[in-house]
Amino acid sequence: MSQYDGLNRRAFLRNAGMTALVGAVGPGTSLGAMTGVAAGAAFGAAADTGKYDFDTPYNRLGTDSVKWDQALRQNEMGTIVAGMGIADMDFRCAPVITKALQERIQHENWGYLDTPKSFTDGIVAWNKRRYGIDVNPESVVITTGVHPGLIAAIKTFCPVGSKVLLTTPTYNGFYGDLRFTGTKPEESLMKYVDGRFQIDFDDFERRISMDTNAFILCNPQNPTGNAWSPDDLMRLGEICLRKRVVVLADEIHCDFVSKGNKYTPFATLPNKAVVNNSITFKAASKSFGLAAMKCAWFFSDNVEYINRVKAQNRADLSTLGMIASKAAYAGGEDWLNQCVDYIDGNHDFTQKFIRANIPLVKIGAKPQGTYLTWLDLSDVAARIDAKGMAAAEAGKTRNGNPPSPEAMLVKWFAKNAKVALNAGDTYGKGGDNHVRMNIATSRKTLDAALTSMARALDGLKKTSTSAL
Ligand SMILES: Cc1ncc(COP(=O)(O)O)c(C=O)c1O
Repeated sequence: MSQYDGLNRRAFLRNAGMTALVGAVGPGTSLGAMTGVAAGAAFGAAADTGKYDFDTPYNRLGTDSVKWDQALRQNEMGTIVAGMGIADMDFRCAPVITKALQERIQHENWGYLDTPKSFTDGIVAWNKRRYGIDVNPESVVITTGVHPGLIAAIKTFCPVGSKVLLTTPTYNGFYGDLRFTGTKPEESLMKYVDGRFQIDFDDFERRISMDTNAFILCNPQNPTGNAWSPDDLMRLGEICLRKRVVVLADEIHCDFVSKGNKYTPFATLPNKAVVNNSITFKAASKSFGLAAMKCAWFFSDNVEYINRVKAQNRADLSTLGMIASKAAYAGGEDWLNQCVDYIDGNHDFTQKFIRANIPLVKIGAKPQGTYLTWLDLSDVAARIDAKGMAAAEAGKTRNGNPPSPEAMLVKWFAKNAKVALNAGDTYGKGGDNHVRMNIATSRKTLDAALTSMARALDGLKKTSTSAL
C-alpha cells in the first residue's frame, strides 16, 4: 500500500518527515502547535553552510492561508495533500525578514508611520543592482499592493466603459481590477507554438480602438511563464506609443526566471519615448513571500503620469509591510537567489514527472519565468465529462448559472487527488480546459501532489467513472 493511499495528509506529513514540526494537520490546526519548530532552526537558516532550507515542508495549515486553509474549506476536501492555487510560496521567509520584524515588535507602539527615505533608497538600489533599472526616486509611489496601484492607474487613464487591452491567457486578478473600475477587457489571444505562447502582434494592434487607453503587460506572464524578450517588449511598446495606449507593466514576478532566461524590465528598453509611455508596478511580495504584508510600489520616468495616478492612489504604508520589504531588499538577496534556483529545480521536476507519469495531462515547454505551471487538461475534461458535470451543477449555484467545466476539473482534483488548483477559464480567452498549478513548495510536497494527481487519473483509467 502506498504512502498516499487514502490521501491522508497526516500520513503524507509523517512520510515527509514533518511530524516533528506539526501538531495537527486538518482544519483548525493551532498555530501554537505549528510554531514548535526544533530549536537551532531559528529563522530557517543553516548558518554554518550558508544554505537555506527549502526542502523541509513548512506547514501552513491553521494560519487562515488562502492557499491551504481556504482551499480546504471551499473545496470541501476534508484532507489536503497540497494547496497549489493562489500565487504565494510555502517556504519560511528569509531570516533577515523575521529578524527585522522581531526587532520592531519589541517596540509596542503602532501609530501612523512616516515613509522613511531609506525605504525608497532600498527600492532604487535593489533595482539598479539586480536589474540595471534607473528608478527615479522622486517617482516612486508606495501602495498597498499591485492591485490598488493598477486600479489607480486604470481610473486615471480609462473612463468607465472603456477597454483595457490584455494578452491572454493572463492573470485572473486583472479581470477583477477591470470590474472594480467599470472598464472592459479587450483580449488578444496569444498563439501557442511548440509548447510556448507568443504574442499575436497583428491581432494586438487590430484590437486597439478609440476607447482603448491602456494595456496591462504581465512580465513575466502569469500564468504562461513567458519572460518577454526585449524584441517582444519593444514591438508592444511601439504599437502602444503609436496608438496612444499607456503601458501598465506589472512586473511583480520578475525575480522568478528559470536558468538560461532573462527578465527584461520594460523601463530599460532603449527607446525613451516607449519607456515614457509606461508605469511599472512591483513589490517584494512575490519574491519574498510577503503577499499579506500589503506593500508594493510603482514608478515611471513620466512624472506627469505619476502625478495623475497619485491623485487616485489613497494608500497608507503598514509598519510591518515596510519593515519586511526593507529588510528583504537590504539583506535577502542570497535567500532569494537560492529560492529561485530551488523553483527552477521544481520546474524541471514537474516537467519530468508529468511527461513520464501523467499522460492525460499536457504540459508545455518549461516556463521561462514565474513559479506557475499552465496545464492542458483537455483529455481529462473529456474523460470526466467536465461539461456534463457543469451542466448538472447549474441549479446548485447561487445565481443558477452552471459553473465552468474548468471549475469542475478543479473540483475533481480536489476530491480525487486532494490537490487544489486554479480554474483556467478565469485567466481569460485561451483558458478553457486548463488549470494553473503553483509549484512554489517543497519538492516533497510537489512530489506528493503530482503522485496523488497521477493516482487519481490512474483510477479514472481503470474505472472510467467520473462521479464527483
Ligand atoms: C501578475 C500579478 N499581479 C499582481 C498580483 C497581486 O499583487 P498584490 O498582492 O500586490 O496586489 C499577482 C498575484 O498573484 C500577480 O500574479
